[in-house]
Amino acid sequence: MSGDGLTIALAKGRILDETLPLLARAGIEPIDDLSTSRKLVFETNQAHINLVLIRSSDVPTYVQYGAADLGIAGKDVLLEHGGDGLYERVDLKIAGCKLMTAGFADKALPKGRLKVATKYPAITRKYFVDQGRQVEVIKLYGSMELAPVVGLTDLIVDLVDTGNTLKANGLVPLDHIMDISSRLIVNRASLKMKNQAIKELVASIEQAVE
Ligand code: PRP
Repeated sequence: MSGDGLTIALAKGRILDETLPLLARAGIEPIDDLSTSRKLVFETNQAHINLVLIRSSDVPTYVQYGAADLGIAGKDVLLEHGGDGLYERVDLKIAGCKLMTAGFADKALPKGRLKVATKYPAITRKYFVDQGRQVEVIKLYGSMELAPVVGLTDLIVDLVDTGNTLKANGLVPLDHIMDISSRLIVNRASLKMKNQAIKELVASIEQAVE
């Protein structure tokens, strides 16, 4: 956003349900109902703050290139993106879950190269390389749980919250890779050029987290 206005990129989906109450506690409320509107850009009760609603995996990209000054995205998405051009400023302590490997409880894994399906190829490759395991990573965009069931892969790497999706598909969580929560990120150039406005916003969000 030009001038002193601020644009915050928000992720659609499950993070949004916890993001909106947090923003409300920080004094920022969209004028329209984000859950029913087909709009992508939303004005708020604060004239200088707009929200854009996009796919969670696109949030770091919008912030990296300055199309949004700030963004709210999961640590999973941020690690996968790599973090160029942005600062991670606040752990919002919302949308908590775990990034895990998962597979069948009673099936021995092959000794050689493992096949793993995931939305997170970079994190997954690093995790298995660190374990000294050879891995073939197959990138999928959703419904990871199907991959072992139909024999596409031996394992998946995915987010686990309640564990219900795994259970419903006959899978179990195996290794815990990391705890995940949502983070407030800031574009590096915006932080310099709109320092005062961003400082105030970050402070009110920090207060809302506490
Ligand atoms: C996530 C994840 C799992 C599921 C885990 O998908 O990819 O499929 O949630 O949650 P659970 O442990 O509570 O069952 P999500 O529903 O966010 O949809 P997505 O695949 O579009 O990311």
